[in-house]
This record gives sequence, C-alpha cells and structure tokens, in this order.
Amino acid sequence: MLLVTGGAGFIGSHLVRRLVDEGAAVRALDDFSSGKPENLADVRGRIDLVEGDLRDEATVRRAMRDVRVVFHLGAVPSVTRSFVDPHTTLDVNIGGTLNVLRAAQASGRPRVVLASSAAVYGDRPESPKTETLTPNPLSPYAISKLAGEQLCAVWTEAYGIETVSLRYFNVFGPRQDPASHYAAAIPKFLQALTEGAEPVVYGDGEQTRDFVHVDDVVDANLRAATAPSVAGRVFNIATGRAVSVNAVLSLMASRLGVAARPRHEPARAGEVRHSLADISAARDALGYRGDISFAEGLERTIAARPSRLAAAGR
Ligand SMILES: NC(=O)c1ccc[n+]([C@@H]2O[C@H](COP(=O)([O-])OP(=O)(O)OC[C@H]3O[C@@H](n4cnc5c(N)ncnc54)[C@H](O)[C@@H]3O)[C@@H](O)[C@H]2O)c1
Repeated sequence: MLLVTGGAGFIGSHLVRRLVDEGAAVRALDDFSSGKPENLADVRGRIDLVEGDLRDEATVRRAMRDVRVVFHLGAVPSVTRSFVDPHTTLDVNIGGTLNVLRAAQASGRPRVVLASSAAVYGDRPESPKTETLTPNPLSPYAISKLAGEQLCAVWTEAYGIETVSLRYFNVFGPRQDPASHYAAAIPKFLQALTEGAEPVVYGDGEQTRDFVHVDDVVDANLRAATAPSVAGRVFNIATGRAVSVNAVLSLMASRLGVAARPRHEPARAGEVRHSLADISAARDALGYRGDISFAEGLERTIAARPSRLAAAGR
C-alpha cells in the first residue's frame, strides 16, 4: 500500500492517478481544506480515501497501516496565508509531518518522501540554488517546510526511517486551483486571459521562477520512493531554467490569441526576486530529468482545461 497525504490536492491528485495507473494499491489522506473530492473523481472507486486531519495522530496512524511508502504532500501550502494565520500553517506543516514520522516509526517503517519547497532558500542571492546553501526562510511557510526537512533528517539519523525531502520549485499544470485567494500565478493568468479579465502581476513582473510541470514532480516522487542510498537527503526538483512572470504572461497570451494587459499591484511580502535551481543532485542520485520545457508544460496545461473553456475557442 502506498499513502499520499494531501492526495486530493493539485500535485497529490496527479501522483495518486499515476500510482493507480501503474497498478499500485493507493490510499489518500486529505481533509479537503484546499484539496477537492473532484480532483480524485476518476480514480474514486480504485483508491482507499481517508478523510481526516494530519494534526490528529490517531488518524495518521490509521492511514499508515500496511504502508510501504508515504508521499507526504498534505500541507497548508501558501506563503501569504502563512502570514495571515501562522499557527495553522505551523501546526499542519510541522505537527503533521511529525505525526507522519512517528506513525512511520510505529508501523512498518515505510520510506517517507516529503514535499518541501524552494521557499527554504528565501532571498539568498546565489544562483542557481544548490542544496548545500544555508537556508534562509523568510516566511512562516518556509520555516515550516525547513522544519519538516529537518525532522525527516533527524528521524533518519535517530530511528533509521528512510526519508527523502524534495524541494519543489514553482509547480504548474492541470487542476491547479485559480479560485483561491492564495493561488499561484499560472492558473490565475490562465483564468483571467480566458475570461477576458486583467491578470494581476505583483511587482514589475521581471521576477523569475523555475517553473516545473507537475508530471516532472510526480516523476521525482516515484524515483525518490525507490532510489538507493538517499535516506536523509534533500533534492531540488525543478528544471534548471528560469522564466520571468512577464514572459509567462506573454507566452500564454500569444498561445491563446489574446492581448496580455496586466494590472500591476505591489510585490507581496516574503516573495523572492529570482529563483533558479541546480538539479544536478536529483539527476545524479534519483535519475531525475526535469526535461519538460516550459512551453511544453504550458501546452499540456492549456490542452487539459475544462472543455467549456476550450469550446469557447480560447
Ligand atoms: N504548488 C507548488 O508550486 C509547490 C511548491 C513547493 C512545494 N509545494 C508543496 O507541495 C505540496 C502539495 O501542494 P499543492 O500545490 O498540491 O497544494 P494543494 O493545496 O492543492 O494540496 C495540499 C493538500 O493538503 C491537504 N491538507 C491541508 N491541510 C491538511 C490537513 N490538516 N490534513 C489533511 N490534509 C490536509 C489539502 O486539502 C490539499 O489537498 C505541499 O506540501 C506544498 O507545500 C507546492
């Protein structure tokens, strides 16, 4: 049995589907706080879905029964929200990770693959970011992700639980929710351009990101579940290529055949200026490739939009 926490979320639901397609027995644990049941609609009868809260140790222990690998993606995943409600972010992201590790220790000692984040680097000026840089978290969210990694490393060291932390950079792809106040740029842009609304750009738009398609992130998780000699390690998961927010917008607009007229708002608290990954450690140790180009990833994302939008010819 494989467990995906946060399995009803954007990335988690892609991972669940891929595992099911590969014939694995899959359990998903989610409280549907930001994830949605419809994200799992097409695999619903084929997985064991546990509705519950990561903060509840008994729930996590129950979900861990007979589990060989746990992909721990369940979290409050927003920098902005972590300033608004830091208690919840820290309780879920740190307390939840601790519950996963303790349940792993008490059960069949599954490997734990943690979803961490490039946010741990903060505004360190070095580029590209390598895993050996000293982290500099600039938000409660980043602190929670770094604490999760460090808990994983300690559980490997102290109890021999095999843990692997994956620092995702900016993930995008189908089913990423544009509706939330805390949504990421790509789904928001796509929604705005499709509906003829003004996309909002924070700051001047020249900030750059290493956008990684969700299929590459799923691939990294699968590799991290089985790679030898990686216990306790941390890996960047990205593409090694940077794209500016302005470039994202103009590429998307030209692909959709519309004009990109953004409205600029002040840069957000805790946001970093440039973010680019060195992915050679993941390449070497996991065999990870991260080779879906931004243009290809965007194409897959646009192609997977709900048919009513595609039918509108946009
Ligand atoms: N999307 C990105 O660009 C990105 C970048 C870096 C790291 N990450 C990490 O990847 C993981 C998945 O993020 P996502 O983008 O798919 O976000 P998401 O919000 O779609 O997924 C998070 C899931 O966790 C669930 N969850 C939240 N609190 C819970 C709780 N207390 N108990 C049980 N389930 C709970 C949510 O309902 C949701 O389904 C997160 O750990 C996030 O920090 C994401």
